Amino acid sequence: MTKDWWKASARGIPHLVTETPGPLSKKMHERASRYMKGLSEQVRLFPVCFEEGSGIMLRDVDGNRYLDFSSGIYVTSLGHCHPRVSEAVSRWAGRLMNCHDFTTPVKEKLLEKMAAVLPGKLNAMQFYSDGTSAVEAGLRAARAATGKHEFISCFRDFHGKSMGAVSCAQMVRGDVFSYGPSRAPGFYMVPRPNPYRPLFSKPDGSIDTDRYISFYEEFIRESTVGNVAAFVLEPVQGWGGSVFPPDDFFPKLKAFCEKRKILLFSDEVLAGMGRTGEWVTLSHWNVTPDIITFGKSFGNGFPVTAMVVKEEYGDALNKISASSSYGGNPMACAAALASIEVIEEEGILENVRKVGDVFMKRMNKMKENHPIIGDVRGKGFLLGIELVKDKKTREPFNEAGKRVYQKAFCKGLAWIPAGHILRMSPPLIMDEEYAMKGMDIIEESIGEVEKENGYR
Ligand SMILES: Cc1ncc(COP(=O)(O)O)c(C=O)c1O
Repeated sequence: MTKDWWKASARGIPHLVTETPGPLSKKMHERASRYMKGLSEQVRLFPVCFEEGSGIMLRDVDGNRYLDFSSGIYVTSLGHCHPRVSEAVSRWAGRLMNCHDFTTPVKEKLLEKMAAVLPGKLNAMQFYSDGTSAVEAGLRAARAATGKHEFISCFRDFHGKSMGAVSCAQMVRGDVFSYGPSRAPGFYMVPRPNPYRPLFSKPDGSIDTDRYISFYEEFIRESTVGNVAAFVLEPVQGWGGSVFPPDDFFPKLKAFCEKRKILLFSDEVLAGMGRTGEWVTLSHWNVTPDIITFGKSFGNGFPVTAMVVKEEYGDALNKISASSSYGGNPMACAAALASIEVIEEEGILENVRKVGDVFMKRMNKMKENHPIIGDVRGKGFLLGIELVKDKKTREPFNEAGKRVYQKAFCKGLAWIPAGHILRMSPPLIMDEEYAMKGMDIIEESIGEVEKENGYR
């Protein structure tokens, strides 16, 4: 098998043979919707029914073939049904599906591989089946490791939908709304620096990271009982709109946490394992967290996630009895191990860095040429375009975000909506040709929306 395995199924995409969503898609979705409730906006805005995926191509039940710019939802990062991953899962599906948390040969290999690729002493871990459970376990581990109980998380971060994870996020969001009186006791939120929309800025208008950090100092003194176990945050905001912090933020936050014996918990469920061109996103800023979570792309579509702590906190995982029924089952370990091996052997990180630069060049050019593009940002294949009504006022243009999403999907681009911010997360195997094909579709759709709204 060569690393170009995905190219044959990609030939000619997007290729549409009906209007989209097509008649069969509509019919099946209508039938399914009688029973399936609680769908994401991604589906509600474009109710297509997929039946096959290979590499960067998705095919719907009407025979339309789409170019994938979403990796599902940051999940199938090595492409749909990567042969190495599919083969590894099916081998264990026919041999040993589950044996609780007993050691298996494939788990032993995965643990050693993880310890080898992760920086510093991040080498004490457990596996789970979804990102939320990994985050929950990380919160419990932080309490066990420190003997403290409070948590600080950040505005517009997202960590999952269980009660603990919900308590680390915005409560008014429909999908995390707790229907309770408030977030769980001991959970607090603070703003984090967004360079395009700074809350604290210097006289020259640039973002003032030091003021965020000094605000945290004051916040902890005034709002908590001084018992903060961990600062929990995404390295880059995913749901929040591919928002990257200024380069000095994480080094300063790490120093802040160390001084106060607060653990730094980086939730890399969305950003980690190669999407930004590093195994660990915080490595971009030479910072190693105390606790880290991985998910989504970790098993390239097979449900497997991980919660890892520094060696010195390993005993906390014993204290919280960190194992679970499905976590680390042989199929899951095989998927994760194969995914890591593919990243290493197929030069995935190099591709992400190379094509990521081409994406950024293109997006910067688009920003110059389009009146509704307020900001563009990204590292590797974690990208965002922020749409505004006016570049001076920076007023979010929500309606445009929705229309661009739908228009591009109609043209054969499978991707993710996020209000007024366009989020792109293509499979990491994608080359420059298809990357630019996708950007052509997005640019054309933005142009059409500008025309409809009198900007051209
Ligand atoms: C940063 C982050 N953490 C946790 C989660 C929850 O993961 P899951 O949906 O697998 O439970 C998500 C999901 O989007 C996420 O983006």
